[in-house]
Amino acid sequence: MGILTFFAKRFIAGETKQEAVEAVKKLNGMGMRTTLDILGENVSSEQMAVDLADRYIDILKTIEKMNIDANVSLKLTQMGLDISDDFCYENVGKIIEAAKQRDNFVRIDMEGSDYTERTLNLVYRWAEKYDNVGTVIQSMLYRSEDDVRKLSGRGIKIRLCKGAYKEPASAAFQKKARVNENFIELMKILLDSGIFHSVATHDNDMIAATRKYAEENNIGRDKFEFQMLYGINRFGQKKLVSENYRMLVYVPYGTHWFPYFYRRLRERKENVFFVLKHILGS
Ligand code: FDA
Repeated sequence: MGILTFFAKRFIAGETKQEAVEAVKKLNGMGMRTTLDILGENVSSEQMAVDLADRYIDILKTIEKMNIDANVSLKLTQMGLDISDDFCYENVGKIIEAAKQRDNFVRIDMEGSDYTERTLNLVYRWAEKYDNVGTVIQSMLYRSEDDVRKLSGRGIKIRLCKGAYKEPASAAFQKKARVNENFIELMKILLDSGIFHSVATHDNDMIAATRKYAEENNIGRDKFEFQMLYGINRFGQKKLVSENYRMLVYVPYGTHWFPYFYRRLRERKENVFFVLKHILGS
């Protein structure tokens, strides 16, 4: 196993469906829900995008057959957004339909800000037909408060995160403190909405602020969920479950892991130093 594969394994469940199912079973056993992500992005061939959609439908069937607690998360550039909006609409529509038939849910991940408007427009189109589709909002973007109000107003479930992509000052807060402040403001709007939204972070301050706001406003622990990524802050994941909070873990798997892995490295400079130290030392 190469050194990078070794480190990537900390953040991904494995390269195969079987490994992902095993990871889900383990997390379910610890009282956690999961969302499965088949790794991949910026697909430029129609055939590849269709094949990926088929793999998502296959995993939805597996979830049903194995009776495991998992929904799916996907990226629109994996599903042909770079080819055309209409192609992507049809391709993802098949997955949402397959999930609907199985009483399951599809989360549309959010990518860089160049894609935000088109992603949300597609989410609104699917939401006209289906109630089992939700999306993600990034607190780093200036536009997010408007988007949160609009999505929530239409009853669309939101996963709130800080944002993993490098964004220009024209679109996003550049200071971490401002991203965090906005996260807390948006979290309050989500919790007040009465819709089952998700607060996705490993940041103990954001988690504490969410808990405090919920307690002060008598919002029950079953009215929202926390979400974290596979392999990050495992202690925090278990602690929240032990305190009766809802916890969902994002479980990525597949062979196209490099862009995902790279974003995880960028989030924490210690990760980069750790990998570099081992590469230079080997
Ligand atoms: P922050 O980056 O401030 O980290 C807080 C603490 O968490 C760190 O001090 C460290 O202890 C720990 N930590 C965070 N990242 C770590 C890492 N990579 N390795 C080790 N420790 C780490 N983004 C996006 O743009 N679109 C999306 O669709 C999603 N989807 C998504 C789903 C879920 C379930 C989660 C939890 C996150 C996402 N994200 C995302 C990623 C998100 O935007 C953000 O980049 C990361 O969650 C890191 O931000 P934190 O909120 O954890 O805070």
